[in-house]
Amino acid sequence: MTHLDDRTMTSSGFYVSQEAPIVSDNPVPTPQAPAPDILRCAYMELIVTDLAASRQFYVDILGLYVTEEDDEVIYLRSTEEFIHHNLILRKGELAAVRAFSYRVRAPEDLDKAVAFYEELGCRVERRKEGFTKGIGDSVRVEDPLGFPYEFFHQSEHVERMSWRYDLHIPGELVRLDHFNQITPDVPRAVKYMQDLGFRVTEDIQDDEGTVYAAWMRRKPTVHDTAMTGGDGPRMHHVCFATHEKHNILAICDKLGALRRSDSIERGPGRHGVSNAFYLYLRDPDGHRVEVYTQDYYTGDPDNPVVTWDVHDNQRRDWWGNPVVPSWYTDGSLVLDLDGNPQPVIERTDNSEMAVTIGADGFSYTREGDAAGTYQGEAAKGFKLGHQL
Ligand SMILES: [Fe+2]
Repeated sequence: MTHLDDRTMTSSGFYVSQEAPIVSDNPVPTPQAPAPDILRCAYMELIVTDLAASRQFYVDILGLYVTEEDDEVIYLRSTEEFIHHNLILRKGELAAVRAFSYRVRAPEDLDKAVAFYEELGCRVERRKEGFTKGIGDSVRVEDPLGFPYEFFHQSEHVERMSWRYDLHIPGELVRLDHFNQITPDVPRAVKYMQDLGFRVTEDIQDDEGTVYAAWMRRKPTVHDTAMTGGDGPRMHHVCFATHEKHNILAICDKLGALRRSDSIERGPGRHGVSNAFYLYLRDPDGHRVEVYTQDYYTGDPDNPVVTWDVHDNQRRDWWGNPVVPSWYTDGSLVLDLDGNPQPVIERTDNSEMAVTIGADGFSYTREGDAAGTYQGEAAKGFKLGHQL
């Protein structure tokens, strides 16, 4: 979101700059109350319509560890986790997201979360006993963008399974890495998230200043959540990290062997944004799960913000492979605090799919190089999302 004049082109083909104040023509007001000190994304609570089918996907195939379960809900965690869970699968009628949950540094940060969101006029609910098993005093809010955010500090500790190599599988999921949210107005979302204490690490823009997506972090990785421009509020994906690239390839091989290749939506590949190796899966309800590894350290205060041109065909996939249209259009509904789906508001800014794929859009491999630039009708070429 830095002005064109204040950023520097790198030899890798993207810009770097220092994080700048966000310009939004419809800003969420900045509260006087200080933001809670958020440590990291901690867990997502998903509503699933067929608990057995979801259990097969997340436990039998992806190998997440069951902390607790009953006929209504399953609490899962990744290999390195020591808090109670990173993912809740709760049986329900409508597949949706019930909570994006963040861990805060100290119990007092929950008081700060209440004051921060009450000042914004948001609906806030605090439960000393927590909203789920294993988690203590918690605050849930309907945030200014319509997302169900949770904040907690206290959690039951469980065993870290890192040393249990006897249980590990080739595609071991070792950490919850990030969320990804779909929202119509990305600059509005980013300014609010900056007020909440998040730092921008990367974004995608065009020369007219339209922002298509932004990545933001608390922990020193590329992100704890990202804002993707689209009809929202919806959930784009939840992401788990593996140690290495070969773990992601092992998941693909396993899905093929199980005749579950239709669970693979996009990838495997190398991202431009974040530099991570990636794979996108769809669970039995269509919730999107990313598996991801090897992004980079971002913890210094002057960490450069990376800005990608929306027309750079290597921004979403470093190898220039097509982004399938469903990846741009599909997302999961999110719930309000009563469990009802939040209405979805249409994006009015340009869509990334429209400006980069097909006759209306264009993308390039080398900017300004006619031989490497696909435009107009030629954009229906083999690299840009049109496949038989
Ligand atoms: Fe992601």
